[in-house]
Amino acid sequence: MENQFAKDIIKGLKSRPKFLPSKYFYDKKGSEIFIEIMKMPEYYLTACEMEIFQKQSSKIIDAFKIEKGEKIEVIELGAGDGYKTIELLKELDKKHSFVYKPIDISIGALEQLEINVREKLPDLSIELIRGDFFQKLHELQQDNTKKIVLFLGSTLGNMEDEIATNFLVEIQKNLNKKDLLLIGLDLIKEERIVLPAYHDSQGITSSFNLNLLQRINRELHADFNLAKFQHEPEYSEKTGKAKSFLKSLEKQKIHFKDLDISIDFEKNERIFMEISRKYNDEILKNLLQKTTFQIKQKFLDSKQYFADYLLEVE
Ligand code: TRP
Repeated sequence: MENQFAKDIIKGLKSRPKFLPSKYFYDKKGSEIFIEIMKMPEYYLTACEMEIFQKQSSKIIDAFKIEKGEKIEVIELGAGDGYKTIELLKELDKKHSFVYKPIDISIGALEQLEINVREKLPDLSIELIRGDFFQKLHELQQDNTKKIVLFLGSTLGNMEDEIATNFLVEIQKNLNKKDLLLIGLDLIKEERIVLPAYHDSQGITSSFNLNLLQRINRELHADFNLAKFQHEPEYSEKTGKAKSFLKSLEKQKIHFKDLDISIDFEKNERIFMEISRKYNDEILKNLLQKTTFQIKQKFLDSKQYFADYLLEVE
């Protein structure tokens, strides 16, 4: 099998318990559904982080402690549509001159981001960087411009803790002393608030998960019947982990025609789709143990559902 997508999908479905890599959610349709998720009334994350940037950007920028005339650049990892970031950039632009450098793997996403940013901040200097986060950060590390890295939207939470730790270590290694990381993290709170964000009443999150089965059908000529799988999210306030599964509603066999492979499902057997970890100070401190990052400040929304933590390389 030369096709990486095919390899990853089959590997996940042959594992016990079964899983599918969530990075494959984002085909064209998946990316569209994801935008719908962000707008759902139950999906409080975006609104909370937006409120932080709308109300506290000036405070956040003061905490950056930028010296007069100091050269700075704002690097954003996986910026998306830039909707929230623009709030911060607008405020920063009033006081300092800087270059905004979004890094993303998708050139389409970067170009759309540039259009959105230009509309609101026509004079901002922006440099699109297409590629791998760590490699690009490493290239940028060579000059001594002060770096402010943004990693928003609780995307870290879509990594298991061990991977998240390694991710933070890699970021820190590719930064210099006094460089900053502003990281947006969803906080641990009651199930009645968290769970609906992953189980909305209109079934948008369900279609987001099922869309990956559809993509597999299309690209690998498999025969998943979407009606025989059910979206099943769970959340534990104790661990802070929200997880999404697709549950097989009956015993069934899925055929991959081109690959000449079939996969069996028991009734109620689940495919693990994605983790959305929630945090508190202690969990974050544990993740930072192998890094030299220090927590400088924490910015909360008015409901205290979400936090943007400012970390500094020591
Ligand atoms: N990182 C966000 C979160 O965990 C966004 C996200 C990623 C998401 N995948 C998702 C939201 C799937 C809902 C469903 O919430």
